[in-house]
Amino acid sequence: MRVIKNLSRQYSAENLRDMAIRRRMYIHLTGDVINGTISLRGDTIYAFFVAPDKQGNGIGSSLLACVEEVASTQGTNKLSVDASITAKEFYKYHGYSSVKEERDRWYGVVITMEKKLQIPG
Ligand SMILES: CC(C)(COP(=O)(O)OP(=O)(O)OC[C@H]1O[C@@H](n2cnc3c(N)ncnc32)[C@H](O)[C@@H]1OP(=O)(O)O)[C@@H](O)C(=O)NCCC(=O)NCCS
Repeated sequence: MRVIKNLSRQYSAENLRDMAIRRRMYIHLTGDVINGTISLRGDTIYAFFVAPDKQGNGIGSSLLACVEEVASTQGTNKLSVDASITAKEFYKYHGYSSVKEERDRWYGVVITMEKKLQIPG
């Protein structure tokens, strides 16, 4: 319960808006409705969410493919993410491997996962 409260606080609408100013944020839209978000800073993925009623329709895969393409175009050869247990299987499905698993006091189980990227050219 505390973990969910902490995550909800960290990813409140206000914090996501502030994060979008500091980091590059990609959004999946239908008209002006936001279906999902993902953010990339350096070689790390943050703020990856698909709205619960839109999950399972390929939106998460397309957002992930988008940041992988941006990162590899920028010459990044490895992406990293601190995955929550809700997303571990999703990342595995997309070629990410677990490199570390920790129990964080505030955010519960955090699984660091990485994927090697192909650099174009
Ligand atoms: C994880 C998340 C971003 C995936 O987005 P999505 O739009 O639902 O994913 P997709 O529809 O692109 O799924 C692609 C594939 O992964 C599978 N998949 C998606 N989420 C999964 C999960 N949590 N566990 C296992 N498999 C999953 C799907 O079954 C699908 O497989 P298929 O193509 O064979 O049917 C989304 O479920 C989400 O926002 N979850 C809650 C927040 C979260 O965990 N964010 C990540 C924090 S690090």
